[in-house]
Amino acid sequence: MTMDYTGDISEKDIFRLQDAIREVSTYNFSDYSYNSFYRRIEKILSDFETDIETLIRNVKKDYNFLEKVVRNITVNTTEIFRDPETWFFIRQAIEQRFAGCENINIWHAGCSTGLEVYSLMILLNEMNLLEKTSIYASDINANVLNTAMSGRYKYHELINYLDNFDKALNESENMKKNYPSVDMTKYIKVNKFNDNVQMADFLVEKPLFIKHDLVSCKNIFEKKFEMILCRNVLIYFNHDLQNKVITFFYENLTKNGCLVIGRHEGIIGTVGANFEKKESVYFRKRTF
Ligand SMILES: C[S@@+](CC[C@H](N)C(=O)[O-])C[C@H]1O[C@@H](n2cnc3c(N)ncnc32)[C@H](O)[C@@H]1O
Repeated sequence: MTMDYTGDISEKDIFRLQDAIREVSTYNFSDYSYNSFYRRIEKILSDFETDIETLIRNVKKDYNFLEKVVRNITVNTTEIFRDPETWFFIRQAIEQRFAGCENINIWHAGCSTGLEVYSLMILLNEMNLLEKTSIYASDINANVLNTAMSGRYKYHELINYLDNFDKALNESENMKKNYPSVDMTKYIKVNKFNDNVQMADFLVEKPLFIKHDLVSCKNIFEKKFEMILCRNVLIYFNHDLQNKVITFFYENLTKNGCLVIGRHEGIIGTVGANFEKKESVYFRKRTF
């Protein structure tokens, strides 16, 4: 017999939990999308085999438990060369705007296990730009950052996405027409029998991975960025928080900088007027 631990979680319960988290930590989920936060809490109650009252009590009294809850609130789905067709537009943006810069700073905000970071580094290497680029990558979840830092993945977890490499770099009509094909074995070692996929050392050594909460809207890197990628993260925030974070990104882009968001995400409202859009790439408009 399976137990239903979720019972009826009321809106009040959700707010009490968010208040409890805020009281004992710097985390603030009050401006996350209510529906997606609710679904995560339902899942946590079921996975942890607990009820909402016990969850709130334990969050208040045990910081390690709270960290575990936070790690479970976040959705970490990611892929190598996710949305393959987007990478041509990312390549074009870099080529047209920053290829001539002396140094290029790029920030992956909400990088999860780092597959997006490795994808971009591969692209930059093919463009002969990797050396002069500094790569920063952050996430709220320390566990996924550990995986990102190792550059090591389970083959069975990546098997459905490895094809994205060819789809993005070798099979897309746009890429085929404009650029030479790319050999995956230069960058990624696949060992099916050991269930292991390992990124090349020179890629693993390159980025600075760091824990950072976007809700804080603090630029811990203390520099402006040519490109910020924040893909498939904003969907978990409500409109107010989306606007706040997008404005924060705008302020931390160089004057020619651009923001890349997820394929199914958009920037709406007055903050959108600060950008010019090409596919998923939003170029910062200059202010005079
Ligand atoms: C769905 S994944 C997207 C990963 C990658 N950008 C991609 O598109 O494949 C969303 C990531 O955002 C992170 N995240 C959620 N809330 C965050 C916050 N407040 N600050 C920083 N990262 C956050 C999650 O931990 C998760 O790893």
